[in-house]
Amino acid sequence: MDGADGVDGADGADDGPWWKRAVFYQIYPRSFADGDGDGTGDLGGIRAHLADLAWLGVDALWISPFYPSPMVDFGYDVSDYCSVDPLFGTIEEFDALVDEAHRLGLRVVVDWVPNHTSDRHPWFVDAASGRGSRHRDWYVWRDPGPLGGPPNNWVSAFDPSAPAWTYDRTTGQWYLHLFTPSQPDLNWDEPRVVAAMHDVLRFWLDRGVDGIRADVVHCIGKDPALPDDPPEVAGVPHAVLNDEAVTHDRLRSIRRLVDAYPGDRMMVGEVYLLSTEAVATYYGEGDELHLAFNFPPLLAPWWEPSWRRCVEDTMDAVAGRGAWPTWVLSNHDNPRHRTRYDSNAARHGEDAATRARRSEARARAAAVLLLTLPGTPFLYQGEELGLTDATIPPGRELDPGGRDGCRAPIPWDATPDHGWPRASAPDGPWLPFPPEPGTRNHATQRADPGSLLHLYRRIIALRRQVATLSTGGFAWAESPPGVLAFHRRSRENDCFVLVNFTGEAATVAPAGDDDPAGNWASWKVGVASHGEGEGEGAPYDGTLAPDGAVVLLRPRP
Ligand code: NOJ
Repeated sequence: MDGADGVDGADGADDGPWWKRAVFYQIYPRSFADGDGDGTGDLGGIRAHLADLAWLGVDALWISPFYPSPMVDFGYDVSDYCSVDPLFGTIEEFDALVDEAHRLGLRVVVDWVPNHTSDRHPWFVDAASGRGSRHRDWYVWRDPGPLGGPPNNWVSAFDPSAPAWTYDRTTGQWYLHLFTPSQPDLNWDEPRVVAAMHDVLRFWLDRGVDGIRADVVHCIGKDPALPDDPPEVAGVPHAVLNDEAVTHDRLRSIRRLVDAYPGDRMMVGEVYLLSTEAVATYYGEGDELHLAFNFPPLLAPWWEPSWRRCVEDTMDAVAGRGAWPTWVLSNHDNPRHRTRYDSNAARHGEDAATRARRSEARARAAAVLLLTLPGTPFLYQGEELGLTDATIPPGRELDPGGRDGCRAPIPWDATPDHGWPRASAPDGPWLPFPPEPGTRNHATQRADPGSLLHLYRRIIALRRQVATLSTGGFAWAESPPGVLAFHRRSRENDCFVLVNFTGEAATVAPAGDDDPAGNWASWKVGVASHGEGEGEGAPYDGTLAPDGAVVLLRPRP
């Protein structure tokens, strides 16, 4: 868009802090890009591709853990919080990465894993060495239950048939781990743990990071009595049930720590509870998390009623309490959204040929929705290329949570190596590439203005130009079944977003409080998911393509 239609630049929307307007991009370092040719992604690889991310237009990078780790949970089992695993590089390379990212206008957010350490962390090694050890109380130890078994009925995250406890023969007690036995839970009732974990935050904030992503942060407060979970949730991992008042006090003091730094540092929390209302409480009264991930959309099928419900719940529970929502379609813990949408469609009887035709169109429409809903969107590396999950050959599975497919390496170009040098890994990268890397790769799509990659770029550019799309108000508009229609409005601009979840063309009247139905003349197409950019900037003709999505714009009268 150019300025001729009066929608560019500051447009009367409330600007707010950067993280309200930002588009975040999640980097899973093992799989993003390989700088040293050992088959595993690293900090050098990230640095080499920062310019590509700046070209895409994202504002902030969230980098999943790159700290020393035995890698049982691929970095979410940390054995040293204040250093870089040699697999990924050095602390100097991290500093250089942050400097360069900042030079390119990209903010950097790092992961903080406060609920558990690795069992190889020196704190746990000491804690397990004897009941009287200095770090014993840094973890959650209990005597055996009445029958000599685990102290309560909590089950762990990746294997719900297994207790969240492991017996330690040396000291005759069980230790708690909401995740794998290699990830013992820290005891946040112990003040030395709180102090040590605050120091970790300071370490990274002092190095100049712009924010923190806090892993399963709702789990850092536990009922000290460790009561059994109720029988009706038997088999549900305790990590998705734990919701204790004391966590809110802990988050308030973490918030004070973060806010004491200059420059609007922020914290986005992973609060993996299944109710949006419960998640919303972790924003506190604007004094806990700045942002919390919103998981129902990450699990929702591509079905209009599901999405309407997700948006309504979020607007009620999060925006309704004055907090700022987040939106995410994919991450490193779940099948990619295109994979989920395809398999859902297959389950509902869609034949393979139709699926092949509609799959990318759905991914395009989803991009429009993700980037126009009210709140901060988080992209997961590779969704801008339309990646689906890799098929992992039997015997090559690595992750204890079965999540390898969505963690496959990013194809950077159409060469046989897809940009992953084989210097010391002749068999290629640590996991196989996702399907169709010959076309679903960065270089090929960058050369094609009609690609999904370019669509993401155009929507992000439009958000930047029309602040209303990030910080404007939200209002539903009437729409036929199978179509979501909503306005984003500021004093000066009206953005009208239409998303067609069906395989049939649809017509929606541009009704609004200040616009008589049927009058499309004043609206221009800001972005269209179809037609390879065609029609963008032109007046809208009233027909929404099958599986199509458009963003319409006009100045407020
Ligand atoms: C959530 C992280 O996203 C996931 O990858 C990890 O396995 C668990 N937390 C445990 O740290």
